[in-house]
Amino acid sequence: MFENPENERKMKNILTLVSGNGTNLQALIDAERQSGLGQGTIAVVISDKLNVFALERAENAGIPAFTLLPDKNLPKQERRLDLSNRILAKALALQIDFIVCAGFLSILSGDIIAVYASRMINIHPSLLPKFGGQGMYGEKVHRAALDAGERESGCTVHFVDAGADTGQIILQRIVPVFSNDTPQTLAERIHVQEHAAIVEAVRRLV
Ligand code: GRF
Repeated sequence: MFENPENERKMKNILTLVSGNGTNLQALIDAERQSGLGQGTIAVVISDKLNVFALERAENAGIPAFTLLPDKNLPKQERRLDLSNRILAKALALQIDFIVCAGFLSILSGDIIAVYASRMINIHPSLLPKFGGQGMYGEKVHRAALDAGERESGCTVHFVDAGADTGQIILQRIVPVFSNDTPQTLAERIHVQEHAAIVEAVRRLV
């Protein structure tokens, strides 16, 4: 009988995009090893920065990983689109079903948004829509939450759309903000929750 190879491919391929340390990637790797990511498997990791520790984490786990650098010769908008298109081409060539931005700093644009609509997620270290948007990453997010006198902060996993941190929210995890918090102590508290959130969101998604 004729078999459709697509039906035979039971596991869903996940592409994880990273730019830095990769603790969220590590949480996904550990979760897949320990109790699985539903029907999902981390098939490949792509970084937009050279020599980041996330790439080493992927290598240590035996996951193919490589870098696609933004083209600095292009103006900002074109650079974004060019990188997005190169990621899309790789994703299609590698039969990627889902894309997880796990600490990925480049903003995606162009066809990848529609092609992977509802199949591409991002994690952000605040309770969106608060403290999101272009330029809001790392310490700046936590400093803004502290400056605003927030009593709670947390993390958000959301679908990626054409905006920056504007896509539909999948889930949030909340942490308290203490009066003696610094951006670093708040970031650390949120990071722990991020790892649980990203695993839960990926399991739901796939
Ligand atoms: C996380 O705080 C994530 O929310 C943000 O970038 C950071 C990445 O951390 N988008 P890591 O590289 O996963 O450790």
